[in-house]
Amino acid sequence: MSSLALLPSGVIFPLYIYPSDNCAGWAPLVSSISTHRTLQFTIIVDPASGPGSADSQPDTNYQACIAQLRSTGAANGDNVRILGYVATGHGSRTVSAVLTDIGTYNGWSAAYRPDGIFFDEAATDPSFLSNYQSFTTTVRNEFGPNSYIVLNPGAVPDTGYFSIAHLVVSFEGFYSDFSASSIPISSATPANKQAAIIHDGPTNVNLTTVRTLTRTVGVGASFLTDFPNAVAYENYPTDWTTYLNDLVSTQA
Ligand SMILES: *[C@@H]1O[C@H](CO)[C@@H](O)[C@H](O)[C@H]1NC(C)=O
Repeated sequence: MSSLALLPSGVIFPLYIYPSDNCAGWAPLVSSISTHRTLQFTIIVDPASGPGSADSQPDTNYQACIAQLRSTGAANGDNVRILGYVATGHGSRTVSAVLTDIGTYNGWSAAYRPDGIFFDEAATDPSFLSNYQSFTTTVRNEFGPNSYIVLNPGAVPDTGYFSIAHLVVSFEGFYSDFSASSIPISSATPANKQAAIIHDGPTNVNLTTVRTLTRTVGVGASFLTDFPNAVAYENYPTDWTTYLNDLVSTQA
Protein backbone atom coordinates (compact mmCIF):
# COMPACT_ATOMS: atom_id res chain seq x y z
CA MET A 1 0.00 0.00 0.00
CA SER A 2 1.15 3.49 -0.67
CA SER A 3 0.19 6.99 0.25
CA LEU A 4 1.89 8.47 -2.81
CA ALA A 5 -0.34 11.10 -4.37
CA LEU A 6 -1.42 10.47 -7.92
CA LEU A 7 -0.17 13.03 -10.44
CA PRO A 8 -2.91 15.12 -12.09
CA SER A 9 -2.17 13.88 -15.60
CA GLY A 10 -2.42 10.12 -16.01
CA VAL A 11 -2.72 7.47 -18.71
CA ILE A 12 -5.77 6.25 -20.61
CA PHE A 13 -4.98 2.92 -22.25
CA PRO A 14 -7.36 1.45 -24.85
CA LEU A 15 -6.29 -2.12 -24.04
CA TYR A 16 -7.60 -3.93 -27.10
CA ILE A 17 -4.87 -6.52 -26.66
CA TYR A 18 -6.05 -10.06 -25.80
CA PRO A 19 -4.85 -11.02 -22.30
CA SER A 20 -3.85 -14.57 -23.36
CA ASP A 21 -3.00 -17.47 -21.05
CA ASN A 22 -1.40 -16.45 -17.77
CA CYS A 23 -2.11 -12.83 -18.71
CA ALA A 24 1.02 -12.79 -20.89
CA GLY A 25 -0.53 -10.20 -23.20
CA TRP A 26 -1.03 -7.78 -20.36
CA ALA A 27 2.23 -8.42 -18.51
CA PRO A 28 3.93 -5.21 -19.74
CA LEU A 29 1.02 -3.16 -18.42
CA VAL A 30 0.95 -4.97 -15.09
CA SER A 31 4.65 -4.22 -14.75
CA SER A 32 4.16 -0.53 -15.64
CA ILE A 33 1.44 -0.13 -13.00
CA SER A 34 3.90 -1.26 -10.35
CA THR A 35 6.83 0.82 -11.60
CA HIS A 36 4.79 4.02 -12.08
CA ARG A 37 2.80 4.22 -8.89
CA THR A 38 2.11 7.96 -9.15
CA LEU A 39 0.34 7.57 -12.49
CA GLN A 40 -3.38 6.86 -12.63
CA PHE A 41 -4.00 4.12 -15.21
CA THR A 42 -7.47 4.26 -16.75
CA ILE A 43 -7.69 1.00 -18.69
CA ILE A 44 -10.37 0.16 -21.24
CA VAL A 45 -11.16 -3.50 -21.70
CA ASP A 46 -12.96 -4.66 -24.81
CA PRO A 47 -13.53 -8.42 -25.18
CA ALA A 48 -15.76 -8.29 -28.27
CA SER A 49 -16.17 -4.69 -29.48
CA GLY A 50 -18.18 -4.51 -26.28
CA PRO A 51 -18.82 -7.00 -23.49
CA GLY A 52 -20.07 -9.84 -25.71
CA SER A 53 -23.63 -11.10 -25.95
CA ALA A 54 -26.29 -9.92 -23.53
CA ASP A 55 -25.82 -11.16 -19.96
CA SER A 56 -22.61 -13.04 -20.81
CA GLN A 57 -19.47 -13.27 -18.70
CA PRO A 58 -16.08 -12.66 -20.35
CA ASP A 59 -13.82 -15.64 -21.02
CA THR A 60 -11.63 -17.00 -18.25
CA ASN A 61 -8.53 -15.13 -19.45
CA TYR A 62 -10.37 -11.82 -19.19
CA GLN A 63 -11.74 -12.86 -15.82
CA ALA A 64 -8.33 -13.69 -14.38
CA CYS A 65 -6.44 -10.83 -15.99
CA ILE A 66 -8.86 -8.02 -15.13
CA ALA A 67 -8.69 -9.30 -11.56
CA GLN A 68 -4.90 -9.18 -11.82
CA LEU A 69 -4.92 -5.57 -13.08
CA ARG A 70 -7.19 -4.67 -10.19
CA SER A 71 -5.09 -6.39 -7.53
CA THR A 72 -1.92 -4.83 -8.96
CA GLY A 73 -3.50 -1.39 -8.67
CA ALA A 74 -4.68 -2.12 -5.13
CA ALA A 75 -1.15 -3.13 -4.16
CA ASN A 76 0.29 0.08 -5.60
CA GLY A 77 -1.83 2.73 -3.95
CA ASP A 78 -4.99 2.28 -6.00
CA ASN A 79 -3.72 3.60 -9.33
CA VAL A 80 -5.88 1.41 -11.61
CA ARG A 81 -9.38 2.01 -12.88
CA ILE A 82 -10.99 -0.38 -15.36
CA LEU A 83 -13.66 0.63 -17.84
CA GLY A 84 -15.78 -1.49 -20.16
CA TYR A 85 -15.90 -0.50 -23.84
CA VAL A 86 -19.33 0.37 -25.24
CA ALA A 87 -19.78 1.55 -28.83
CA THR A 88 -22.39 4.23 -29.45
CA GLY A 89 -22.06 4.94 -33.18
CA HIS A 90 -21.82 8.73 -32.74
CA GLY A 91 -25.40 8.65 -31.47
CA SER A 92 -26.71 6.24 -34.12
CA ARG A 93 -26.65 3.03 -32.07
CA THR A 94 -30.00 2.24 -30.48
CA VAL A 95 -30.41 3.27 -26.86
CA SER A 96 -31.56 -0.23 -25.93
CA ALA A 97 -28.43 -1.84 -27.41
CA VAL A 98 -26.20 0.53 -25.45
CA LEU A 99 -28.12 -0.10 -22.22
CA THR A 100 -27.85 -3.86 -22.78
CA ASP A 101 -24.05 -3.58 -23.02
CA ILE A 102 -23.92 -1.51 -19.83
CA GLY A 103 -26.04 -4.11 -18.05
CA THR A 104 -23.88 -6.96 -19.33
CA TYR A 105 -20.73 -5.40 -17.85
CA ASN A 106 -22.62 -4.74 -14.62
CA GLY A 107 -23.50 -8.44 -14.48
CA TRP A 108 -19.84 -9.49 -14.45
CA SER A 109 -18.70 -10.95 -11.14
CA ALA A 110 -17.22 -8.50 -8.68
CA ALA A 111 -13.62 -9.66 -9.14
CA TYR A 112 -13.61 -8.49 -12.75
CA ARG A 113 -16.54 -6.11 -13.03
CA PRO A 114 -15.38 -2.76 -14.50
CA ASP A 115 -15.37 0.43 -12.44
CA GLY A 116 -17.34 2.24 -15.11
CA ILE A 117 -17.85 2.62 -18.85
CA PHE A 118 -15.93 4.08 -21.81
CA PHE A 119 -18.44 5.23 -24.40
CA ASP A 120 -16.70 5.10 -27.75
CA GLU A 121 -17.85 6.96 -30.86
CA ALA A 122 -19.61 9.45 -28.63
CA ALA A 123 -21.63 12.17 -30.31
CA THR A 124 -20.54 15.80 -30.40
CA ASP A 125 -23.89 17.35 -31.35
CA PRO A 126 -26.23 18.56 -28.58
CA SER A 127 -29.18 16.81 -30.24
CA PHE A 128 -27.89 13.47 -28.88
CA LEU A 129 -27.13 14.73 -25.39
CA SER A 130 -30.31 13.36 -23.83
CA ASN A 131 -29.42 9.84 -25.05
CA TYR A 132 -26.01 10.08 -23.45
CA GLN A 133 -27.59 11.42 -20.28
CA SER A 134 -29.65 8.26 -20.04
CA PHE A 135 -26.52 6.15 -20.65
CA THR A 136 -24.53 7.86 -17.92
CA THR A 137 -27.45 7.87 -15.47
CA THR A 138 -27.79 4.14 -16.05
CA VAL A 139 -24.09 3.62 -15.29
CA ARG A 140 -24.41 5.51 -12.00
CA ASN A 141 -27.55 3.60 -11.07
CA GLU A 142 -26.10 0.21 -11.89
CA PHE A 143 -22.42 0.54 -10.94
CA GLY A 144 -22.95 2.95 -8.06
CA PRO A 145 -22.09 6.55 -7.29
CA ASN A 146 -18.33 5.94 -7.42
CA SER A 147 -18.44 4.62 -10.96
CA TYR A 148 -16.35 6.37 -13.61
CA ILE A 149 -17.56 7.55 -17.00
CA VAL A 150 -15.54 8.50 -20.08
CA LEU A 151 -16.97 9.77 -23.34
CA ASN A 152 -14.89 9.47 -26.48
CA PRO A 153 -16.14 11.72 -29.27
CA GLY A 154 -12.52 11.96 -30.41
CA ALA A 155 -13.16 15.64 -31.10
CA VAL A 156 -14.38 18.56 -29.03
CA PRO A 157 -18.09 18.02 -28.30
CA ASP A 158 -20.83 20.41 -27.26
CA THR A 159 -20.10 21.60 -23.72
CA GLY A 160 -23.17 19.76 -22.38
CA TYR A 161 -21.26 16.49 -22.69
CA PHE A 162 -18.67 17.65 -20.20
CA SER A 163 -21.25 17.85 -17.42
CA ILE A 164 -22.25 14.17 -17.68
CA ALA A 165 -18.80 12.52 -17.70
CA HIS A 166 -15.66 12.49 -15.61
CA LEU A 167 -13.46 12.62 -18.69
CA VAL A 168 -14.01 13.51 -22.34
CA VAL A 169 -11.56 12.40 -25.03
CA SER A 170 -11.60 15.63 -27.01
CA PHE A 171 -8.75 14.59 -29.30
CA GLU A 172 -8.24 11.17 -30.87
CA GLY A 173 -6.11 11.34 -33.94
CA PHE A 174 -2.81 11.62 -35.72
CA TYR A 175 0.26 12.96 -33.97
CA SER A 176 0.81 15.37 -36.85
CA ASP A 177 -2.59 16.94 -36.14
CA PHE A 178 -2.14 17.35 -32.39
CA SER A 179 -1.16 20.59 -30.69
CA ALA A 180 -2.02 22.35 -27.44
CA SER A 181 -4.91 24.06 -29.21
CA SER A 182 -6.52 20.65 -29.85
CA ILE A 183 -7.69 20.85 -26.22
CA PRO A 184 -9.81 23.99 -25.73
CA ILE A 185 -9.76 25.15 -22.13
CA SER A 186 -12.63 27.07 -20.55
CA SER A 187 -14.61 26.94 -17.34
CA ALA A 188 -17.09 24.57 -19.03
CA THR A 189 -14.28 22.51 -20.57
CA PRO A 190 -11.50 22.25 -18.00
CA ALA A 191 -8.28 20.63 -19.13
CA ASN A 192 -8.35 18.06 -16.36
CA LYS A 193 -11.67 16.70 -17.65
CA GLN A 194 -10.16 16.10 -21.08
CA ALA A 195 -8.01 13.39 -22.58
CA ALA A 196 -5.93 13.08 -25.74
CA ILE A 197 -5.35 9.78 -27.56
CA ILE A 198 -2.62 10.22 -30.15
CA HIS A 199 -1.46 7.65 -32.73
CA ASP A 200 1.08 7.57 -35.59
CA GLY A 201 3.65 9.33 -33.41
CA PRO A 202 7.42 9.11 -33.78
CA THR A 203 9.03 5.85 -32.66
CA ASN A 204 10.91 7.72 -29.95
CA VAL A 205 8.67 9.73 -27.67
CA ASN A 206 9.26 13.48 -27.92
CA LEU A 207 9.57 14.99 -24.45
CA THR A 208 8.16 18.27 -25.77
CA THR A 209 4.92 16.52 -26.73
CA VAL A 210 4.57 14.99 -23.29
CA ARG A 211 5.31 18.34 -21.67
CA THR A 212 2.56 19.92 -23.82
CA LEU A 213 0.11 17.29 -22.57
CA THR A 214 1.00 17.51 -18.89
CA ARG A 215 2.20 21.08 -18.33
CA THR A 216 1.06 23.35 -21.16
CA VAL A 217 -2.43 21.86 -21.29
CA GLY A 218 -2.73 19.68 -18.21
CA VAL A 219 -4.98 16.97 -19.62
CA GLY A 220 -6.51 14.52 -17.17
CA ALA A 221 -5.13 11.60 -19.17
CA SER A 222 -3.37 10.78 -22.41
CA PHE A 223 -2.20 7.94 -24.60
CA LEU A 224 0.61 8.36 -27.11
CA THR A 225 1.63 5.62 -29.53
CA ASP A 226 3.77 5.33 -32.62
CA PHE A 227 1.54 2.58 -34.02
CA PRO A 228 -0.67 3.51 -36.98
CA ASN A 229 -4.37 4.17 -36.59
CA ALA A 230 -5.55 0.69 -37.67
CA VAL A 231 -3.56 -1.16 -34.99
CA ALA A 232 -2.89 1.67 -32.54
CA TYR A 233 -4.60 -0.02 -29.59
CA GLU A 234 -3.59 -3.61 -30.27
CA ASN A 235 0.07 -3.01 -29.43
CA TYR A 236 2.18 -1.52 -26.70
CA PRO A 237 3.74 1.70 -27.92
CA THR A 238 7.37 1.03 -28.90
CA ASP A 239 8.65 3.68 -26.48
CA TRP A 240 5.99 2.98 -23.83
CA THR A 241 8.27 3.18 -20.80
CA THR A 242 9.84 6.47 -21.93
CA TYR A 243 6.35 7.92 -22.34
CA LEU A 244 5.44 6.90 -18.78
CA ASN A 245 8.75 8.21 -17.42
CA ASP A 246 8.20 11.51 -19.24
CA LEU A 247 4.67 11.81 -17.83
CA VAL A 248 6.17 11.55 -14.37
CA SER A 249 9.23 13.78 -14.96
CA THR A 250 7.25 16.61 -16.57
CA GLN A 251 4.96 16.74 -13.55
CA ALA A 252 7.73 16.82 -10.98
C1 LIG B 1 9.88 17.53 -30.64
O1 LIG B 1 8.75 18.35 -30.87
C2 LIG B 1 9.08 19.72 -30.98
C3 LIG B 1 7.80 20.52 -31.01
O2 LIG B 1 6.90 19.97 -31.94
C4 LIG B 1 9.94 19.91 -32.22
O3 LIG B 1 10.29 21.27 -32.35
C5 LIG B 1 11.19 19.06 -32.06
O4 LIG B 1 11.95 19.13 -33.25
C6 LIG B 1 10.85 17.61 -31.78
N1 LIG B 1 12.06 16.89 -31.47
C7 LIG B 1 12.39 15.78 -32.06
C8 LIG B 1 13.66 15.12 -31.61
O5 LIG B 1 11.74 15.31 -32.97
